[in-house]
Amino acid sequence: RDEPLVLGIETSCDETGIGIVRGRTLLSNTIASSMEEHARYGGVVPEVAARAHLEALQPAIAAALAEASVSLDELDAVAVTSGPGLAGALMVGIGAAKALAVSLDRPLYAVNHLVGHIAADILDADAPPIEYPTVALLVSGGHTSLLLVRDLTTDVELLGETVDDAAGEAFDKVARLLGLPYPGGPEIDRAARDGDPTAIPFPRGLSRASDMDKHRYDFSFSGLKTAVARFTEQQQAAGVEVPVADVAASFREAVVDVLITKALDACARFDVPRLLLGGGVIANRRLREVATLRADAAGVALRIPPLSLCTDNGAMIAGLAAELIRSGRPASTLGFGADSTLPV
Ligand code: KG4
Ligand code: ZN
Repeated sequence: RDEPLVLGIETSCDETGIGIVRGRTLLSNTIASSMEEHARYGGVVPEVAARAHLEALQPAIAAALAEASVSLDELDAVAVTSGPGLAGALMVGIGAAKALAVSLDRPLYAVNHLVGHIAADILDADAPPIEYPTVALLVSGGHTSLLLVRDLTTDVELLGETVDDAAGEAFDKVARLLGLPYPGGPEIDRAARDGDPTAIPFPRGLSRASDMDKHRYDFSFSGLKTAVARFTEQQQAAGVEVPVADVAASFREAVVDVLITKALDACARFDVPRLLLGGGVIANRRLREVATLRADAAGVALRIPPLSLCTDNGAMIAGLAAELIRSGRPASTLGFGADSTLPV
């Protein structure tokens, strides 16, 4: 009861997420997505996302309050994602959060989206308390980041990130190449089921010995995407039907292999036997499978929060703010804006 009741607003991409927590207890997590509106463009259109947030926010807040059985004036604090993400989309959430905080006269916490993804795991009621330090791998349509978390509120270090496409983006683009609909992740997962993951030796980006100096923990998926494009073109030019299942399985294997190899390399190198996964790509069945097998073999404890907490959501933003309050962090002043490249 003494724990703060926090409402979190997340609008960094195409999900309008409103979450309410009391301390580490999740009370509601409502999500409205504009995914379908982006489908015909094959990716998220910033302008469309911002408009959709504006329309979805009010009803989403009402739904979250109803689900949590709390009223606005019971809230102790408001939290919002201030970055990284799409600037226009972020601004809609920030505007709403400021209005709410000012009208209710409550403190407002501007929080980092990536750190929020890590905080999501705290809200998993079925898991034991999270232990630090931990390595965290965040993979979604917007980011692919490897982090070393020594303390959630004071010490999160970015070890590496993608230098081009995000992992989910690569799934979406390759799906498109194969004539599969958006979002591509689930489609590739399905198409790969009957495929041979060793059929085509697609490249593992930034995995050469010469990459280990500067890019040991960075990722690159654009070369992989190009390799898939070249392979399918060659097949078509030769008049051969593209073996979609094998291409999907081999592509997925290349992505999963490089993600898990680098994450476990970080665990070994920093002597941290814990790995936390987050982001929408965690829905990938092969990723979960490979992570589970290899973490087990390496003696690394693996945490995979439920998918509803892995994809973008407001609960993780509220949850992170609750941790900041617990740690004594002062609230944000109202002057902050959207920072599309906000570092951790
Ligand atoms: O976290 P998320 O819902 O939204 C953000 O991008 O922030 O992640 C969506 C991304 C999309 O790129 C989608 O293709 C990918 O996650 N995704 C998957 C799977 N399900 C969703 N990627 C691979 N395998 C899946 N099963
Ligand atoms: Zn995200």
